[in-house]
Amino acid sequence: MKIAVIQGPNLNMLGVRETNIYGPMKLEDIHNQMKMVAEQNGFEIEFFQSNLEGEIVDKIQECLGDADGIIINPAAYTHTSIAIRDAISAVQLPTIEVHISNIARREEFRKKSLISAVCAGTIVGFGPFSYHLAMIAMVQILNEIKAVREAQKQNG
Ligand code: DQA
Repeated sequence: MKIAVIQGPNLNMLGVRETNIYGPMKLEDIHNQMKMVAEQNGFEIEFFQSNLEGEIVDKIQECLGDADGIIINPAAYTHTSIAIRDAISAVQLPTIEVHISNIARREEFRKKSLISAVCAGTIVGFGPFSYHLAMIAMVQILNEIKAVREAQKQNG
């Protein structure tokens, strides 16, 4: 089974960008840690980052038939993108929304997520560790799906 990790605008600048808010860790380092967890649990993992809304929509659509779960940090599009929300809704894959910072404690415009309502759950505010927590949750979700499929196979 495969996990798709989708990163929104400016997350390619982690480690450089507002390190007082997002910390010193680079996106590549976060991805390496996620890859380790995926491998330890026998899952494939794929990483994608884009600064463009349409490319993120395309990537979510491509997950249909290719991935079993999505971990997404839509970054600034969290607060504006009906298109990303609709794409997540359309593919019907278990999706976890991640934020590095605690968006509930920041500016008013960051407090609203258009994405949360179409996700299995949201992990917010633990710094880069938010991604690790999302991996633990996704491994749990996919293992449950796997167990259900295997039980169905055995029952004919
Ligand atoms: C973010 C929070 C967003 O409000 C912001 O635009 C980001 C990063 C986070 O991970 O904390 O780019 O999604």
